Amino acid sequence: MNHLDVITLDGPAGSGKSTISRLLARKIGYAYLDTGAMYRAIALAAKREGVPLDDRMALKHLCENINLRFVMDQDPPRLLMDNEDISEEIRNPEIDMLSSSVSTVKEVREAMSSLQRSISRHVDKGLVAEGRDMGTVVFPEARCKVLLTASLEERASRRYKELLDRGKTVTKSEVMESLKRRDHQDQNRSLAPLKPAPDALILDTTGMGIEAVLKRLIAHIAAI
Ligand code: DC
Repeated sequence: MNHLDVITLDGPAGSGKSTISRLLARKIGYAYLDTGAMYRAIALAAKREGVPLDDRMALKHLCENINLRFVMDQDPPRLLMDNEDISEEIRNPEIDMLSSSVSTVKEVREAMSSLQRSISRHVDKGLVAEGRDMGTVVFPEARCKVLLTASLEERASRRYKELLDRGKTVTKSEVMESLKRRDHQDQNRSLAPLKPAPDALILDTTGMGIEAVLKRLIAHIAAI
């Protein structure tokens, strides 16, 4: 039985969950697990090795043979794939859509969910886990579950700004179209689609600043 205190933050792309999860974890002294980064790593590996995204057995084999490790004592944690730091490369817009596609594959989900639970067993104090199915599938026993949302316009603006800050050349309408496609795929897939756990707090962050969201979450966590 896992007695770890787990807080899950699920939500669509651009909902602010990565920033919020990371800051929340730092504030309360918990470890932070970015599960989207893991699907991104599988997408990157598949791309590099030329594995077609509909070849389930090849993807399963890839997941079984990949060594993914977070360096947790860095903020944000770095992600190593076979000892190579892939933290920057997995943030490319191309990997956005590829990761959404590999995440629809049952064998990939099973491998990642199992790795996520195994990572949680090596954490001592508590864990803030962010993704799409943290509260519904991977940590259904979590003490506190949150689903962050925001309007499509606001999420697109946040993502656009983030990409510009990282020196990418994209247009706002490209970002909006890509978010729409990814939302559709992440919410309508048959396995572990993005949806709130029955006992989740649903928080719409449209128009809210980071500090206000954090404050709201900390009050919620203290109250349950
Ligand atoms: O959170 P993110 O944008 O980095 O996630 C990339 C993709 O990975 C996302 O489009 C869907 C998938 N994902 C998932 O299926 N389950 C998770 N727990 C986290 C991410």
